[in-house]
Amino acid sequence: MENLQLKSFEEYQQAYKRSVEDPEGFWADIADKFTWRKKWNTTLEWNFEEPDIKWFKGGKLNITENCLDRHLKTRGNKLALIWEPNDPKERFIRYTYRELHERVCQFANVLKKNGAKKGDRICIYMPMIPELAIAVLACARIGAIHSVIFAGFSAVAMSDRINDAQATMVLTSDGLNRGAKQIPVKRVVDEALEDCPSVQKVIVVERLGWAVNMVEGRDVWYHDEVQGVSKDCPAEEMDSEDMLFILYTSGSTGKPKGVVHTCGGYMVYAQYSFMNVFQTQESDVYWCTADIGWITGHTYLLYGPLLSGATTLMFEGVPSYPDNGRFWQVCDKFGVTIFYTAPTAIRALMAGDIDDVLSYSLDSLRVLGSVGEPINEEAWHWYYTHVGKEDCPLVDTWWQTETGGIMISTIAGVTPMKPSHAALPLPGIQPILVDSDGNEIKENGVEGYLCMKFPWPSIIRTTYGDHERARLSYFSTYKNLYFTGDGAKRDENGLYRIIGRVDDVINVSGHRFGTAEIEEAINHNEHVVESAVVGYPHDVKGQGIYAFVIIKDMPEKEEYLRAEIIETVVEKIGKIARPDKIQIVSGLPKTRSGKIMRRILRKVAEGDTSNLGDTSTLLDPDVVDEIKAGAL
Ligand code: PRX
Repeated sequence: MENLQLKSFEEYQQAYKRSVEDPEGFWADIADKFTWRKKWNTTLEWNFEEPDIKWFKGGKLNITENCLDRHLKTRGNKLALIWEPNDPKERFIRYTYRELHERVCQFANVLKKNGAKKGDRICIYMPMIPELAIAVLACARIGAIHSVIFAGFSAVAMSDRINDAQATMVLTSDGLNRGAKQIPVKRVVDEALEDCPSVQKVIVVERLGWAVNMVEGRDVWYHDEVQGVSKDCPAEEMDSEDMLFILYTSGSTGKPKGVVHTCGGYMVYAQYSFMNVFQTQESDVYWCTADIGWITGHTYLLYGPLLSGATTLMFEGVPSYPDNGRFWQVCDKFGVTIFYTAPTAIRALMAGDIDDVLSYSLDSLRVLGSVGEPINEEAWHWYYTHVGKEDCPLVDTWWQTETGGIMISTIAGVTPMKPSHAALPLPGIQPILVDSDGNEIKENGVEGYLCMKFPWPSIIRTTYGDHERARLSYFSTYKNLYFTGDGAKRDENGLYRIIGRVDDVINVSGHRFGTAEIEEAINHNEHVVESAVVGYPHDVKGQGIYAFVIIKDMPEKEEYLRAEIIETVVEKIGKIARPDKIQIVSGLPKTRSGKIMRRILRKVAEGDTSNLGDTSTLLDPDVVDEIKAGAL
């Protein structure tokens, strides 16, 4: 593999120093190791005010040439992708780099045959099957902008995202497997598309062999379309700052934000961070359990590993099917060396039988990773001890959809590791903590709001179709800083520990939801007048969703109402956003100006009502007693 890796703490320190003193030189040297059709003219232009950030301006490239073509000579017969199905009895699939290249080119030609072209937005709503990975790369091959929507989102959520991006094509499957269940994916797409006039074509991959509704002139089967199609497809030449993808994420308003990443900077940072954090070696079998529908799947299942010429494993199933040993069985089956998962999965498995882990050897494992939410110390130790046998560095990787890649993390075996601490920033990343006035807190042993003071190559460029939203969300809270929305501590040695969101975003099992988004969904229920949603600590999910709801009229039974409210959220967003607790209230604690005091609701949801702070500014302080009395 190209020599991008830092091998000792001294090397890290030197690289870090240079990345701050001479960021352009630092990144230009790294970017030089990639395949460019034309070299860039300017390494970096930026201001955080508009914001306007351009990396490698004038450079021409195609990311798939870097993921695939450039490896063909030396790694053509090396495994690029291993796919393990949901059902352990079904046969797995493997593609070498050469085979994956052919599949991607073929899929790209199918896209073109169906009218797709550079700059089009293509929505991908597919389960974790190999065609999902191939479809994403096929879009990138022809310069179409992919917008992957996690296949657990509802039809309404999908149509909102499709309409926002004005996507012209949808790539999907007949259905999906999830543990013991089979789910009709195409039916959800059909429902979504009733409200999506921009979509002209739907390409359907067969997974379950179900008979599905195919709309004449709009829907085609992938297996029909691919017949006789060439396995050769020249890559479209892209500008560094052309959009590579849009990925929708929650913010503090009800409407999802289309986070935009561009080709050059994202590519450079994806590989650099992947190879360093995990300290990959040529012989590794690397497994990231995230779904490609989330940023972790984009950067560290797909792009990062393939850019690095690694073997990446993709898993269709869930950790608990057919039993709680499934992850570990897959590790042993393929000799997985690097394993990257979410704390919620660890906590769920921790609650099960320890023999589900101990009956597997897990000898091949070398590095463990965690992502998506704070990993509590108990889960950290369980993971480190029982999975890693106290012999694998455990990297706690902090980052966000908007950052494109890992920002603060231990570099396996190279930089310090401390339970529940993401630890030190990667080279090129300049985090600072600020107080509520935006003043930098310079000392160690402090806590503050986490911001970045300098751009890195994979920083968000804009929010699709609404640049002002990007400015307001990330660049306006503190002047000349990118604000992450997280609070963090910095210990005496300068190691960072991420505490969690300080805005109205809840992190449920590593998935982000704006409270406003869930409230908006709940309010659609005909019985509901108003609602307020907060997060509360949950043993497995990290945070659970607690909804306080004011209703117009009580239907026959309270359970029916709860079930209906949950149903409304499932319909508007998806099962992943189901409230865990719903408390019916007659009023909400509001200030005289009408603002809901979430601080109070959060305390009630946490079960800590001993000190609710000052409630004298409330419009109706009595409501607090009622809420306290009815707490679930
Ligand atoms: O609050 C932080 C939390 O997840 C948020 C980003 O969510 P998302 O964009 O969905 O990306 C998740 C995968 C990168 C962050 O603002 N978060 C992510 N990783 C960690 C984390 N919190 C603590 N420790 C982490 N390692």
